[in-house]
Amino acid sequence: MQSPNRYMNESITRQRLTTEGHRGIVGGMWDVIGPLQRDFLVQQGLAPGDRVLDVGCGALRAGVHLTDYLEPARYYGIDISASLLEAGYEHEIAPTPLADKLPRSHLHATPDFEAPFGVMFDFGLATSLFTHLPIDYYSHSLETLAPVFRTGARFFATVFEGSGVVNRPDGIITYDDRDPFHFRQSNLQAATPGGWAFKWIGEWGHPRGQMMIELTRLG
Ligand SMILES: C[S@@+](CC[C@H](N)C(=O)[O-])C[C@H]1O[C@@H](n2cnc3c(N)ncnc32)[C@H](O)[C@@H]1O
Repeated sequence: MQSPNRYMNESITRQRLTTEGHRGIVGGMWDVIGPLQRDFLVQQGLAPGDRVLDVGCGALRAGVHLTDYLEPARYYGIDISASLLEAGYEHEIAPTPLADKLPRSHLHATPDFEAPFGVMFDFGLATSLFTHLPIDYYSHSLETLAPVFRTGARFFATVFEGSGVVNRPDGIITYDDRDPFHFRQSNLQAATPGGWAFKWIGEWGHPRGQMMIELTRLG
């Protein structure tokens, strides 16, 4: 079966790393969308002592800023691509003082949304992940990740909202059934598994019009 997106083919990602670089592969706008994610979480009440899981963290566009903001060893990331995690760590963390705050073991490559770190999280983040995946991945990932989020933890994720074929300002076209995907609010609500409360936040300043949703972990 064909993968829903090209990030799921590791040999394509390795090739793209040589042509686009790790900052390009995750969509560029490195200096805008990185700080935006940190600032949003801080606005939502993220405190330096909280533990954050960044799902589909890629090359650490947000990870750099969250590691800087949080107390040492509070940021964790998972992604399907081992080579993207490695490139992010090697270029953005290892040569900087942030290496003292982010253990390499806090980044885990997984095709199945596993977060086997042995800790519970206060905040989750998934930026530009579900925009590349069909809605059943949304349900499956929340089901899989629920046990590592404490009651009351909040997980923020971005999505495109729409149906049919939507032309967006930046020349981006989104679809119901292929990457980049969009969803209706009602479909997301219906696809949210038990154990999570769904809330539509909407606009949060993303330069390409991705909307924000909030999932709260229920007891
Ligand atoms: C557009 S990038 C965004 C990366 C990061 N969140 C950021 O803001 O820079 C999408 C990321 O999702 C990851 N990804 C795609 N499909 C995935 C899957 N099925 N499971 C986990 N990660 C996935 C990709 O490898 C890539 O790092």
